[in-house]
Amino acid sequence: MVIMKNTNGNFQRILVTGGAGFIGSHFIRLLLNERPSSEVINLDLLTYAGNLENLKDAESNPKYKFIKGDIGNRELTTQILSEVDAVVNFAAESHVDRSILGPEAFIQTNIVGTQRLLDVSKQNKVKRFLQVSTDEVYGSLGAEGAFTEDTPLAPNSPYSASKAAADLLCRAYHHTFALDVVITRCSNNYGPNQFPEKLIPLMISNARSDKPLPVYGDGLNVRDWIHVEDHCRGILAVLENGQSGEVYNIGSNNEWPNIQIVKKILNELKKPESLIKFVADRPGHDRRYAINSSKMKNQLNWEPKIDFSEGLHKTIDWYLKNDAWLRRVTSGEYLKYYETQYSNR
Ligand code: NAD
Ligand code: DAU
Repeated sequence: MVIMKNTNGNFQRILVTGGAGFIGSHFIRLLLNERPSSEVINLDLLTYAGNLENLKDAESNPKYKFIKGDIGNRELTTQILSEVDAVVNFAAESHVDRSILGPEAFIQTNIVGTQRLLDVSKQNKVKRFLQVSTDEVYGSLGAEGAFTEDTPLAPNSPYSASKAAADLLCRAYHHTFALDVVITRCSNNYGPNQFPEKLIPLMISNARSDKPLPVYGDGLNVRDWIHVEDHCRGILAVLENGQSGEVYNIGSNNEWPNIQIVKKILNELKKPESLIKFVADRPGHDRRYAINSSKMKNQLNWEPKIDFSEGLHKTIDWYLKNDAWLRRVTSGEYLKYYETQYSNR
């Protein structure tokens, strides 16, 4: 089969890994809507974080295909990549607290898995490999300033160290083997379908059922929040128009101390602030993240569009309307994790 780039600069057949997770599922929906002539293959291992319910609406789309499997399975990816012209790698262990409880899975998927996928992409002469990375690779900021693409890597958690290692492997495959690689580094995402181990959906879920809201440390750690759909539009812009070998920071200029986010959620849900419970801090807790995304704006004409208050309001509404989704994902494995992470804290 001859694979060609479409005339409008996008790709005919795209492998999205980790597409059953939070951000990957939004990205696949964006591709199917905005690039209807492209075929999309979703390779996902369906770990605790992968959920095919996130893409129910795509199942009947003839341009969409799901394959269950590991990005580290060379035999499988060799088969898939023989027919693919671009890879977007979302697949990862993504939660910092889990990386503190057990780092090994992070090394396996985020580093070894990414290296194998790079290698098979190289062998199959894939036209472009986009690595979905994170601002956490830059470490922690003081009160001033923001991460640029030139900020030195200084990861502090097993999660961010594994993502930084993957970024360096991407860089090496570009430099040594001339693989066309682009890397995006985004700040904290929020929106529908996020697994309720992360701050915003966990607080919505607990507040709904009048459970305590566990705030780490003094609650003054700062994160820079972006709506998942803005992030996905940024990834698409980099995939189609980013320069080979370059890194692009994606963020929304929207910094909030955690405690204020928690209070905003309680206020929206009309629940009392007495539900807030300050608990022992996360070990190695990064104090502040902030992203300078002027390169995205200047070079790719990308800007975030979704206002935070409106985006958060709609996100809370999504969780209220999708109670069945929330109940399903918070049963089973989640209960065991919750107990380990929060009891005796
Ligand atoms: P997620 O945990 O919701 O989803 C991860 C997906 O990867 C799941 O569907 C899981 O089943 C799949 N997966 C895990 N291991 C796999 C493997 N070995 N092979 C194939 N599939 C596997 O994560 P998310 O929040 O959607 O994050 C997606 C990506 O974006 C990650 O690479 C993460 O580092 C990055 N990122 C996340 C954020 C954020 O705020 N959530 C911000 C910046 C970057
Ligand atoms: O910055 C991008 C990163 O954002 C992504 O790379 C990660 O995949 C994603 O998980 C996220 O990492 P954080 O550690 O910033 O996100 P989390 O939602 O776990 O925590 C956000 C902040 O809230 C952080 O300062 C810790 C705090 N927190 C979190 C939880 C789960 C609490 O205070 N209580 C909690 O129960």
